[in-house]
Order: sequence, then C-alpha cells, then structure tokens
Amino acid sequence: MPKEKGNKLNGTLGEKENQGTLPKHVAITMDGNRRWAKKNGLAITGGQEAGFRRAVEMTVDFFNVGIHTVSLFAFSSENWGRPKDEVNYWMDLFGVFSKIMLPQAEREKIKVSVIGTRENIPASLRDAIIKAEEATKSYEGKHLILALDYSGKNDILEACKSLAEKVKNGLIQVEDIDEKLMENELMTKCSEFPNPDLLIRTGGEQRISNFFLWQSAYSELYFPTVQWPDFGKAEYLEALTWYQQRQRRFGRRV
Ligand code: IPE
Ligand code: MG
Repeated sequence: MPKEKGNKLNGTLGEKENQGTLPKHVAITMDGNRRWAKKNGLAITGGQEAGFRRAVEMTVDFFNVGIHTVSLFAFSSENWGRPKDEVNYWMDLFGVFSKIMLPQAEREKIKVSVIGTRENIPASLRDAIIKAEEATKSYEGKHLILALDYSGKNDILEACKSLAEKVKNGLIQVEDIDEKLMENELMTKCSEFPNPDLLIRTGGEQRISNFFLWQSAYSELYFPTVQWPDFGKAEYLEALTWYQQRQRRFGRRV
C-alpha cells in the first residue's frame, strides 16, 4: 500500500508527519512485560498476557497506517535460559497467538512468516506456524514476521555456512560473495524489505540484544521508556513521527 494512501485513509498522522516518509519495515523488541506486571501488582503471567494482547492489536495498528512489514522479536534464543514456567507460558501464548492471528491474517490479507530455530519449540506450535505460513503465503502488501527462538548471530552463522556449502559444491565462487548474496541467505530473505528502517525497543534499555545484527546496520533506533503493554497508539504515532524527522544519509553526505 503506498504510504500516502495509508496516511490519508486513516487520518492518523498529522500534516507535519505526512511530510516525511513512513518506514517500510518496522522491527520491534517488545520488552518490559515483567516490569509492567510488577508495577501493576500482577504475577509475571499477567505481564506476559498483557504483552501478548498488545502484540495482537499492534500488528493490525501498524499495518493500518500503511507500514508494509512488521517484525516482532517475540522470543530470543537466549530466552530459553529463563525459568521453565515462564518459558512454557510464552510457548502457550505463541500457540494462542498463531491461532488468533490466522483468521485475522486471512481477513486482513497479512502474510505471516516465522523466523528462528524450529527444532526446540513445541510440536503443536510448529504445526500452527506451518499452517499459518502456508495459508497466507500468497498475500502481498502486509507482512508480519515473528522472530521466535531467533538469534542475530546465529542467523549470520547459518548464512555463512550455507554460502560455504555452495562454494564447496561449486555453485558459486568465493569472489561472488557480496552483500546481496549474503542477504539472500539470511532468514529475512522471506521479506520484500529485509532491512528494518525503524527498530523500536520498548522498556528503556538501549540494546540490540542479538536481534537483527546485519539487518539493522542502518536502521533508525528508537528506545521509548514505556513498557511494551503500555505502548499504545499515542506511543507508536510518536515513534513514527520521530522517524519521519530523521535524516537518513546511509553514510553519505546529502
Ligand atoms: C520481554 O519482556 C518479553 C520476552 C523476552 C519474551 P521481559 O520479560 O523481558 O520483561 P522485563 O524486561 O523483564 O520487564
Ligand atoms: Mg526484558
């Protein structure tokens, strides 16, 4: 969907904001769920549920303003190191997420892709993911990427291994390896816009935490202090407005 159309259709961004360009790909690290639960006197599960609900709403909100690709860092490979109860509850919620998202994705014509390691997640979740990807693979214009058991370092390592394998089998020469070939090996190759223009991490920490390492080379980084469950419409519009005021030079002088 063209950005201008998205803005005008929904009237969510003001005149000033309309002067800029909307990001095509927004990546979000949904941090701060546990702190949100604590602040509100709830158990961790309360924060997990609130974060999960926000993620479901958010995906639709972002597409409605005309953004093409939304990547959600749902669970990092390092998150397996958390207490078993918390990890298991996240897996349950992702199962529910994929079930809720499927009819929604079909209704709104959102393509769903899940990136990360598949082996260690519960089989039922794996099946739900395959089903959601299969049912939505032909949609264009809105793309939801869920990063689950994802590690940016591992993404790069696997891409290197695959390139090495191709060299070994004589499919390519070492000299052929360039940024484009590399990007074709990364898990984000599923996207028309593999590199996020805007990377948002809620919760106030200013870290990438092994999310899109290669892909975020020139992303604008936005770190609101608000915890993920409180990242509402006012907050995401502020993020988009902030983005539209950036001057993106990509290392050049313009
Ligand atoms: C992020 O929220 C969600 C996942 C890691 C899946 P946290 O659980 O990290 O919440 P805080 O940062 O501890 O508040
Ligand atoms: Mg955290």
